[in-house]
Amino acid sequence: VHVLYSTRRYFSIPELSSESVWMKDRQRVEEILQSMSKDGSNTLQVISDFDLTLTRFSYNGKRCPTCHNILEGSNAISNEARQTLDDLLHTYYPIEIDISRPVEEKLPLMVEWWTKAHELLVQQRIKKDELAEAVRQSEARLREGYECFFDCLHEHAIPLLIFSAGIGDILEEVIRQANVFHPNVKVISNYMDFDESGILRAFKGELIHIYNKREGALLNTGHFEELRSRPNVLLMGDSLGDLDMADGVQDMKNILKIGFLNDKLKERKQSYMDSYDVVLVGDASLEVPNAVIRFLT
Ligand code: TMP
Repeated sequence: VHVLYSTRRYFSIPELSSESVWMKDRQRVEEILQSMSKDGSNTLQVISDFDLTLTRFSYNGKRCPTCHNILEGSNAISNEARQTLDDLLHTYYPIEIDISRPVEEKLPLMVEWWTKAHELLVQQRIKKDELAEAVRQSEARLREGYECFFDCLHEHAIPLLIFSAGIGDILEEVIRQANVFHPNVKVISNYMDFDESGILRAFKGELIHIYNKREGALLNTGHFEELRSRPNVLLMGDSLGDLDMADGVQDMKNILKIGFLNDKLKERKQSYMDSYDVVLVGDASLEVPNAVIRFLT
């Protein structure tokens, strides 16, 4: 206990000493933080996943919706389509989080899930002006501390890239309604394509699913080129696929990876600790990322 206490006390950021923060190599985390701090906040960029990373996993014991689930729970789609999307979720989500299957095996199944879901949404002839109401009516919630997170980054002119396999139009609406869609925020996601009468006819561009964020990052070289003077990255995700979000970053110097482990803690503890520098357990708030940003600004 004594040894644990003294290593915990070592940290420049006291929030990292909490019981619900797991780290495989505390010393390494401290080194990354010191190096990033020395370089200053004008060398920092933040890259974050959206669903269940910036938004909560559950609230009052109930699961919170992802971007896709927001539409599912709305009047914009029929009861039959809602049931089909729910069946898809129950078939494919357990595969998404199953650590016993290799990514290569899961990848085609994820493409299958996203393709089926998007085809179904297009068939529903969703209207563009139904989206804001769907978000207002939903139980989606940004994680506690979101105001500070978005506002601090904006205040210090630190770019925030939200990289999501969800739906861009819905995600933007969630942060717009929370009054935190500041000009320093850029989104890479699946965007809806509406016809001239405002009815969904397709999804734009290349599909982004949970395991191709690397390709998505490499397709957006323009964004990363602009941020070349910011070689220090704070990455936040909730899935192992999110670790690839920074693959487009040019001349990277340091990366601090914070992972939210929302679900199946025991089974996934080791793989998360091996991949993320800092693992936040349970339905964590944004207290730790906020403390890191405070330390670096
Ligand atoms: P993320 O990249 O922002 O985390 O978004 C991906 C999440 O969306 C992932 O956890 C699976 C979820 N999802 C649904 O909930 N329903 C769907 O129909 C699809 C295709 C994905």
